[in-house]
Amino acid sequence: MSALTTPKASTQEAAPALGVLAYPLDPQQPRFAMGLCADATVAAATEAAFRTADRAEDGRTLFSVTVNDQRYVGVCLEDSACRLIVLHRAEPETVLRDVLASVPGVRNDAPSLGLIGESAPMQRLRREIQTVARLDVPVLILGESGTGKELVARAIHAAGNDAQQGERPLVSLNLAALPATLIESELFGYAPGAFTGSQRQGQAGKLEQAAGGTVFLDEVADIPMEMQVKLLRVLEDHMVERLGSRRAQRVDFRLVSATNRDISELIDAGRFRLDLYYRLSGVVLRIPALRQRREDIPALLQHFVEAFCTRNRMPAPQIDHDVARHLAGQPWPGNVRQLRQRIEEALVFCDGQTLRVADFARGDAARNVAVTEVVQPQITPPADALQIIGTDMNEVAHAAVLDAITRNGGNKKRAAEQLRISRSHLYKILERGR
Ligand SMILES: Nc1ncnc2c1ncn2[C@@H]1O[C@H](COP(=O)(O)OP(=O)(O)OP(=O)(O)O)[C@@H](O)[C@H]1O
Ligand SMILES: [Mg+2]
Repeated sequence: MSALTTPKASTQEAAPALGVLAYPLDPQQPRFAMGLCADATVAAATEAAFRTADRAEDGRTLFSVTVNDQRYVGVCLEDSACRLIVLHRAEPETVLRDVLASVPGVRNDAPSLGLIGESAPMQRLRREIQTVARLDVPVLILGESGTGKELVARAIHAAGNDAQQGERPLVSLNLAALPATLIESELFGYAPGAFTGSQRQGQAGKLEQAAGGTVFLDEVADIPMEMQVKLLRVLEDHMVERLGSRRAQRVDFRLVSATNRDISELIDAGRFRLDLYYRLSGVVLRIPALRQRREDIPALLQHFVEAFCTRNRMPAPQIDHDVARHLAGQPWPGNVRQLRQRIEEALVFCDGQTLRVADFARGDAARNVAVTEVVQPQITPPADALQIIGTDMNEVAHAAVLDAITRNGGNKKRAAEQLRISRSHLYKILERGR
């Protein structure tokens, strides 16, 4: 793990490293920590950090832990064999940046709440997330498909998590994927024997499950008209009544919703209730399209390359300097999701040493084969292409669907028609691709 070095002194006043520890990832090997530790508290903090870092998607994370009222910050790096944690005692927020800046190849992830990008709109978005996370207001996230709305919803939830209260639930419901009747039972749950086929003991709905935490209503603009008034009512008084029950109970939850549709257009067309819109949109966070913040593309490129290689336990290739410029010149109708998918596809084709612009061209060609396969299942791609595409097939189909939706201005029915698949199949692909 050559890239892992003790942080060098920062230009600002950085805390000295208290511990540098390495853990083998192979569960067969005895769990041990190698390295230096200042004292038992630091060892305990590192243990806690190890557990926190376990949850990180790509293992290259900045984290913060509190042990005996002392806050520690650290950087966790991971390669295929082991995880290394560099730990600092910390007080002010600025130290987080110092620690981060002191380790080569690691970006400012954790304070960024998992959102990559330092463009002005992304910095503003992050500040807004931190602010709204502390407030009890419903948040509506707007942005084109693939801009990161779900990521932002998770960030709001995570940023609002109070360490003292422990983990609070985050419960998501995609309102585009379900018919009205199912939305109702999913949201409100049902009493014992409420309807034929229901579970005998009844079931708590998503709202109840989210008690004390966050409800994320994804694709909220797609909620059928007949459900809108029911949702409005529960948002007004937070009284939840299971289907088939007469007893309502108060449930406290934070509400975050998201849509890529133009809600004002739906309101004008009489397809979305204005009063519900007001209720959902205590604060509106708008995520800019990727083409409006192309300066984030190099950081996203770096991030997705590292994340993909870590996930697949392969060494990250060098990135040819032309690649970022090439990607920044693309239109990205599917936004960050599409960028990620293209990068991962290119990594599949790259020689393992260097990621080049040419790798994207070959990926695009393979992608067209795959899209054709989605539309016309009778066409069989060559065996080797299938093997390559196989792992990312869901992503590829997902990207094709997103492209079609974007091309049709968010209209999923028209997108399905254009792809010559049924609407329910389109929803399945959307669900699977998440
Ligand atoms: N700023 C970002 N930094 C890192 N990853 C991002 C960022 N924005 C989006 N992504 C990634 O892009 C993909 C799509 O993000 P997400 O699902 O949150 O988009 P969305 O806006 O909810 O899309 P849709 O409207 O289709 O539901 C995910 O893999 C997510 O992790
Ligand atoms: Mg989403």
